[in-house]
Amino acid sequence: MSEEARHGARHVAIIMDGNGRWAKKRHLPRVAGHRAGVQAVREIVRAAGEMGLEAMTLYAFSSENWKRPEEEVSDLMGLMKRFIVSDIDEFVEGGVRLKIIGDWRALAPDVVALIEDALARTAGNKRTTLAVALNYGAQDELVRAARAAAAAGDISAEAIEAHLDTADLPPLDLLIRTSGEVRLSNFLLWQAAYAELYFTDTLWPDFKPADLKAALDHFARRERRFGGL
Ligand code: FPP
Repeated sequence: MSEEARHGARHVAIIMDGNGRWAKKRHLPRVAGHRAGVQAVREIVRAAGEMGLEAMTLYAFSSENWKRPEEEVSDLMGLMKRFIVSDIDEFVEGGVRLKIIGDWRALAPDVVALIEDALARTAGNKRTTLAVALNYGAQDELVRAARAAAAAGDISAEAIEAHLDTADLPPLDLLIRTSGEVRLSNFLLWQAAYAELYFTDTLWPDFKPADLKAALDHFARRERRFGGL
């Protein structure tokens, strides 16, 4: 294990909440909050690699987010596209493998094309995996996995797990939600079964590498028993 990975966590997921409130506090439009949120993503992904995490999964766009005003949906998609275009070289150089979970093939064709290119360019990277949840809902993921397991004639927990979008990632150790809300909002429901849950009042754009470190320190102090004694 690397020096950095002493906290013992391999896979951390984050519900990045509070962009809107961050912007409101500053009398800025919501899109400014999302823009600041992208900058926070950048810093946290770099920190994840430095802190020795094998995988980080970020909730960027849920299947429920389509209910937001059209302008905000298009702002979010625009930011996502720009993020992929501007950061892909850093991923390639930094050994970050990009992965997308959720029903991302149903997104607009230009987004799908950008994603396919980014996936292909980073497929061989080994240092850390950045999994971005796009058009993702855990119940939808579970229905898809259960259908695939049933089609293969094996509806065991192992078989369902093997068909989840996250099947190739290490087990989820720690799930973080920012901005003070205490709910899972249809994110990684199966994977959270034994994960440590960590809620912080910090709004997502203010969540810095030091905050990730604090969450990992908290994780390291927990004794996880998986239902045993
Ligand atoms: C929640 O804040 C945040 C989102 C719905 C989107 C998260 C997206 C990003 C951080 C940017 C894009 C991501 C990547 C990976 C490039 P909210 O708007 O619900 O905040 P509020 O609850 O304060 O209104």
